[in-house]
Amino acid sequence: MPPGADRAAVIPERVGAVTGAAARPATRDFFSRCAATVNLITVRDGNVASGMTATSVCSLSLDPPSALICVNREARTRAAIAAAESFVISVLSQDQEEVANLFSRPGGNKTIPETLLSDDPVLDGIGPEFPVLDGVAGALMCRLQCAVDFGSHSIMIGLVEAVYKNEADPQPLVYHDRRYVSTVANLGIAWLQDGLDASSISALGW
Ligand SMILES: Cc1cc2nc3c(=O)[nH]c(=O)nc-3n(C[C@H](O)[C@H](O)[C@H](O)COP(=O)(O)O)c2cc1C
Repeated sequence: MPPGADRAAVIPERVGAVTGAAARPATRDFFSRCAATVNLITVRDGNVASGMTATSVCSLSLDPPSALICVNREARTRAAIAAAESFVISVLSQDQEEVANLFSRPGGNKTIPETLLSDDPVLDGIGPEFPVLDGVAGALMCRLQCAVDFGSHSIMIGLVEAVYKNEADPQPLVYHDRRYVSTVANLGIAWLQDGLDASSISALGW
């Protein structure tokens, strides 16, 4: 910053003056360029297990092990988590694009039939309050610690009570540029199939 310059006056100019109404689409566009793992947030409210597709998921701390999710305050999942005081963050597998579509449809039926829950024996000791969809790559079972409302969303912080890893180790589903894409490793394979040879790939540093 030049000596004597007013900080508030300099910053909007540097960011291309995307202030006011323009900041909303510009911010959305920025985040569309951030590749993000696609998760399914699941919760059991009473007897009903339900889910919601989410990419606003973040590790928070290892001391204590914790994670946060950002949930729209209007989404039914937000109310269900507040009532249950628990939730599951599952990483969807690469072949679960249909699941992601199903559980992101506003107003759609988000109930998960019990038959679609995982019957992986390693989950046997896990309580019914932590519903895990069959075929996910992994899951964190979280106990809700607190929720902070900001704008349209709630930041919900969960303490990790159990961790599930699918031993089949499927690749995660990734969202980038408003569509579902393969992981970087698989992009390498796709490019090879499109005619790029291995030396081109290694020239890219992979
Ligand atoms: C790829 C993708 C990621 C999403 N991530 C989030 C998220 O992190 N938080 C959120 O509140 N909604 C997110 N949504 C939207 C919700 O999935 C959607 O609004 C929700 O399922 C609507 O639930 P409702 O019918 O109970 O309102 C995402 C949608 C898509 C397609």
